[in-house]
Amino acid sequence: MSSQNQLFDQAANILRAGGLVAFPTETVYGLGADTDNEDAVRKIFAAKGRPADHPVIVHLQRGDQIDAWAIDIPPSARKLADAFWPGPLTMILKRSNRAKDVVTGGLDTVGLRVPRHPVAQELLARFGGAIAAPSANRFGRVSPTTAEHVRQEFGDEVNLILDGGDCEVGLESTIVDLSGDVPVILRPGCVTAEQVEQATGMPLGTDLVSLTRCAGRLASHYAPRAAVEVVPTSGVAARFLEITSSGRCVSVLSPVMPPGVPAEAWIPMPERLDNYGRRLYSVLRQVDEAGIDVALITPPPEEGIGVAIGDRLRKASAPRNGP
Ligand code: TXA
Ligand code: MG
Repeated sequence: MSSQNQLFDQAANILRAGGLVAFPTETVYGLGADTDNEDAVRKIFAAKGRPADHPVIVHLQRGDQIDAWAIDIPPSARKLADAFWPGPLTMILKRSNRAKDVVTGGLDTVGLRVPRHPVAQELLARFGGAIAAPSANRFGRVSPTTAEHVRQEFGDEVNLILDGGDCEVGLESTIVDLSGDVPVILRPGCVTAEQVEQATGMPLGTDLVSLTRCAGRLASHYAPRAAVEVVPTSGVAARFLEITSSGRCVSVLSPVMPPGVPAEAWIPMPERLDNYGRRLYSVLRQVDEAGIDVALITPPPEEGIGVAIGDRLRKASAPRNGP
């Protein structure tokens, strides 16, 4: 217990001194810095190789702290905070002066989230400030869902990695833009569109202008090194044959083994969508470690968290636009 205490104190001190601390949230691991320290936030961008105009999410301990970071907060934001915080939801709001350009990527909005993972909560409590944190992976790569994944990505470049085990959700938070007239989902996640509509009592908008502002909307994102193809079960056998006959290694990710695929090429995926979401990024990393060239993935039903899974699979299978 006391060594745990010391670890959290050490982590808080690193943040105060302008260093980087990786920490677990219920979605994925984050790479955190003191939001008020511009040099510290710049270190995140350097470590990730992330373009400076991509904003990072500000993590807070409690929902009532958003007033320091945002202005013109609509009632719908308060309703969402009551319904889903602490939890896997990020809100985009008009920023206050406290949210610096380095955090918002020069936008007039800021992304705010109150995570519920006990380690993230304890870190925020000890530190006392707000923690700016993107997912703890190199730009464009799959988000880490274990402390080991973070170690593989960054090694010694991060001052401290807090280990909170496997992430419960395993996919990044739902992002809702509340800076316009109607709420818009910029990135689907565990909190579904239906849940957001129900909590706000407002139908969601589909404002494409705000969609393009979000780095998470880049076509190719969340990609492993292996090529990813999403193929319906009925088409897997033919595609498998086609790729393997060109000498490339293929793995098939599917809840049931598709006919015509050898057992050793099959990676069973959980049937239940929440378990599927929790496992997906780990499995994509295993595929890379095994030197697989192509992952053929059968599409899970797009209901509930299946919408977020489908979104990540589409991004992983999109033509790659750089590293
Ligand atoms: O679950 C999560 O959201 C994790 C954990 C660590 O909290 N974080 C995460 O951060 O996924 P990141 O930076 O990898 O993805 C956040 C996305 C980025 O695509 C960023 O462009 C977008 O949120 N974002 C942040 N602030 C924004 C803003 N003001 N307007 C539009 N998009 C914003
Ligand atoms: Mg990310």
